[in-house]
Amino acid sequence: MERSASRLGLPGHPGFEVHPVGSPLASVGVEGEWVAVRWVDGLEARFFGPFLYENRFEPGITSPDTRQREVEPSGVPADLRPVEASVDGAGALVLAWSTGEPSRHHPGWLRHYRRGRHLPQDAVPPMRHWAESGLTELPTFDGAAVLAGDEEVFGGWCTAIAVHGIGRLEGLPTEPGTVLAVAERLGVVRATHFGRSFEVVIAPENESNAYTSLPLAPHVDIATREHQPGLQLLHCLVNTCPDGRSTMVDGFSVVDEVRRTDPDAFEALTTLRWVHSNRSTVTDLRWSEPVVRLGSDGEPSEIRLSTGTRALPDMADEDLPRAYRALRLVSEVAGDPRFRITTAWRPGDLVCFRNGRVLHGRERFDPALGERHLQGCYVDLDDLWSCLRMVRRRRLAAGSAEPEENGG
Ligand SMILES: [Fe+2]
Repeated sequence: MERSASRLGLPGHPGFEVHPVGSPLASVGVEGEWVAVRWVDGLEARFFGPFLYENRFEPGITSPDTRQREVEPSGVPADLRPVEASVDGAGALVLAWSTGEPSRHHPGWLRHYRRGRHLPQDAVPPMRHWAESGLTELPTFDGAAVLAGDEEVFGGWCTAIAVHGIGRLEGLPTEPGTVLAVAERLGVVRATHFGRSFEVVIAPENESNAYTSLPLAPHVDIATREHQPGLQLLHCLVNTCPDGRSTMVDGFSVVDEVRRTDPDAFEALTTLRWVHSNRSTVTDLRWSEPVVRLGSDGEPSEIRLSTGTRALPDMADEDLPRAYRALRLVSEVAGDPRFRITTAWRPGDLVCFRNGRVLHGRERFDPALGERHLQGCYVDLDDLWSCLRMVRRRRLAAGSAEPEENGG
């Protein structure tokens, strides 16, 4: 797209994203400090003068190499005004400024801003909670294809994780380290006090119930740190145990249900703080926060709950009865089969899930009956969102997506 843009004589724009021109500019005009724009398809926008000035694709304003901004806010003249606007033969917005200099602006870049395509949720499909979607099986994809760089399969897997909070890959090698190779397809491996990766096996000197044959109630990992890892990957190397099935629970569906049936319990979950600590001999990690964090839209954005590491309350004594009642309700609702998917591990399976949404656990297993070895690691959510945007960017660059899919 950049090549075709320069052939047509359109200016560059800040960033390396692909912004199809879509509908051409129909009319432009100056309105005081603002520039009014209308596209042929009727879309209209007003752009603030200093906004257009600091986003010019010119040396000293935007680096042509890094595409990052160079000009400081203090470098924009205080009395700056656009004085004239026009559209040139290439379709670019052309402005004359009170400082005497002209500037040109990419119409597709202007349109992407008008359409809000610069916002973090861009290219991130909306979530569907399991209670609403009726999800009963893990969305499953070809693991070998993801490792081989198949864009379609990779995009589908990332989309499932964004929408449902979980996606499984099957048919992966059972070589140790495969989980890291898959994680690096997503982004940067998030190391923790368990290392870059961790072994879910029975360990004689363990620091977690995970490294035993105990059953694990649905929980999130690393609730003991300020930033919980956003994604967890678990890869099955060996499993000959007939038991020890994995239990996955859509925590956001559970929160929805608590909110619907018991608003007081929901209020307790979103306001009363618990300390999670790791109870280790060599580190002392602690974090205090309510069980449910709400996003700016008032919807649950992260759950922080782990029976194993939930330590002591950080609230007034009089709040304890409703805090404990709310916890009991969550663990009861988490047992509802509408919100739960139980699966047996097959060697070569890898499950990636949103750690702060999908509560993971397992049934007890008997180590006398077989061997069980999972390898896991973490990646932050930002990398998933970035992958989804990059998949779409590459499709646009290859011309395999319609411009309007990108908002024109
Ligand atoms: Fe865990």
